[in-house]
Amino acid sequence: MYQFDIAATDKPALYREMEQALDALVTGEPDAIANMANAAALLWEYLPDLNWAGFYRNVRDELVLGPFQGKAACIRIPFGKGVCGAAAATRATQRVEDVHAFPGHIACDAASASELVVPIVHDGRLIGVLDLDSPTPGRFDAEDQAGCERLVARLAPALAGALAA
Ligand code: SME
Repeated sequence: MYQFDIAATDKPALYREMEQALDALVTGEPDAIANMANAAALLWEYLPDLNWAGFYRNVRDELVLGPFQGKAACIRIPFGKGVCGAAAATRATQRVEDVHAFPGHIACDAASASELVVPIVHDGRLIGVLDLDSPTPGRFDAEDQAGCERLVARLAPALAGALAA
């Protein structure tokens, strides 16, 4: 069991503390699935107001469900489809305040109202995406985006080994 003392009251500090915890979890561990699983657990425990937190992996240019917390979800998402597929196709973070207004949004969980999807790129290769869903419209702001992009930057090299597609 890992015990982290994360007590930040402002978002930038929260993400800095989560980054330190993530670093402790993945340092020295080459197994990508284990590292995604612990990262999903960390996000789920410390980010308030989420209904889904997890990963889709790039498996031969298709997104395939990876470790996550939340309700059982869609297993395969083509590049370009929905919010996750848009992040994979463009390799740009998608921060969506109202998923119902996003063309092609895939409703895995009817409770989702807003979504943040960060592509995971390492050495020029798309490894997958981090997907966070919230039941609150506009849940994710620029600080969440910057914080999650930093977490993904720390995680990416720890996912590169075992997931080579
Ligand atoms: N809503 C996502 C699909 C993944 S689930 O939210 C877990 C999308 O449109 O890409």
